Amino acid sequence: MNGPARVALIGANGHGLHHRRNLTRLAAQGVVEPVALCDVRPVEEPGDVPVFTDHRALLAETRPDVVIVCTPPHTHLEIALDAVAAGADLLLEKPPVSSLVEHDVLLAALDEHGRAGQVGFQALGSAALPDLVAAARHAAPASVGVAAFGSWWRPDSYWRRSPWAGRRRIDGRFVADGALANPFAHAVMQSLAVAEAGLGWPAGPVTVELEWYRTRDIEVEDTACLRLTDRAGTTVLVAVTLCAVPFVRGEIHAGGAVLEYPTDRLRSPGAADFRPPAGRVDLLENLIAHRATGVPLVAPLARTRPLTALLEVLAAAPAPAAIPAGFLVPHPDGDGLALAGVDTTLRTVVETGALPSELDIPWAVPPYRTVLDLRQKESSDA
Ligand SMILES: NC(=O)c1ccc[n+]([C@@H]2O[C@H](COP(=O)([O-])OP(=O)(O)OC[C@H]3O[C@@H](n4cnc5c(N)ncnc54)[C@H](O)[C@@H]3O)[C@@H](O)[C@H]2O)c1
Repeated sequence: MNGPARVALIGANGHGLHHRRNLTRLAAQGVVEPVALCDVRPVEEPGDVPVFTDHRALLAETRPDVVIVCTPPHTHLEIALDAVAAGADLLLEKPPVSSLVEHDVLLAALDEHGRAGQVGFQALGSAALPDLVAAARHAAPASVGVAAFGSWWRPDSYWRRSPWAGRRRIDGRFVADGALANPFAHAVMQSLAVAEAGLGWPAGPVTVELEWYRTRDIEVEDTACLRLTDRAGTTVLVAVTLCAVPFVRGEIHAGGAVLEYPTDRLRSPGAADFRPPAGRVDLLENLIAHRATGVPLVAPLARTRPLTALLEVLAAAPAPAAIPAGFLVPHPDGDGLALAGVDTTLRTVVETGALPSELDIPWAVPPYRTVLDLRQKESSDA
């Protein structure tokens, strides 16, 4: 493969601006040649590449080597399939697809056309992740194998940021804009990856227990606790909120170590402090290196299958429970109400393994329960 990879970006506004900055950086290094942008809305400061409003016209006219898909989640599959059929490798934003059927269709298309599919889980490129996996591997068995915690704030305006904000379904398709599927999707994906690589988890099918809540007039959850327990009794626990006053970054706990998101700082077992971030493998650079040398992808589509299986659970679950107004307090920054004490409650969840309803939290309701098989299917997309 000679010369820079010719890269097109579909979905050029929003998070697409981040990809455009990355393309500019890599173009300066001669790694990529940005060839086109596409967006159905006017593109902010497009620069001097051609801009399309129809991704099919872009594919037909520019024949890119690599396509970045950064459109709303419910539009991913159609665009990704068209890009792969046009001969492009993919960097597909997370969450990649909304069902296992879609996952398998896309995987089959990648196989059929001999293309690579990288998913935008940049936290999987953390240089500290192998140390967290090693900590999980060498720790004494514990009932909570991996736990993720995050205490964030999103004001009311966040839930109006785009047409799919706060939505669970659009045109009958699962959109997944809640805390688990969007802002904390990286924490969920990392937890699953650490559990799989560090603990050989799951042993057999997994019992899923989901408590999810909303403090606003939205279709999705802004607070969630997810407990996944395998046949051996080992759990992966996720406890996250977007409506807390005290801010705590994302934390993935395993084997006494903690990896912080998005800083990528690691605190080793027994250590008092986090060590400085060790950096990340950039997903686009990794995809381009994969094309050139066959170096493994950091976040191949197949690796994300357990996350998509969980999205199916979220799609099937009853709607998130509304938290009564009496538990809400004005956030000091304004523009919305916060859930009083939710940071402490979720901290207790990850420390004890008990869900809010089991801790007698007054706003909590019993979990939705189901069983699913999270184990990976064989695939060749890596
Ligand atoms: N990896 C990360 O950390 C990260 C962060 C933010 C968002 N994301 C993901 O990036 C994707 C986009 O999110 P966003 O927040 O930028 O959404 P957004 O709605 O703000 O922007 C999406 C853009 O895609 C455009 N678009 C919609 N349909 C299109 C189509 N058919 N063809 C071309 N353009 C189309 C929209 O006009 C919009 O400009 C989502 O999958 C989201 O989950 C990932």
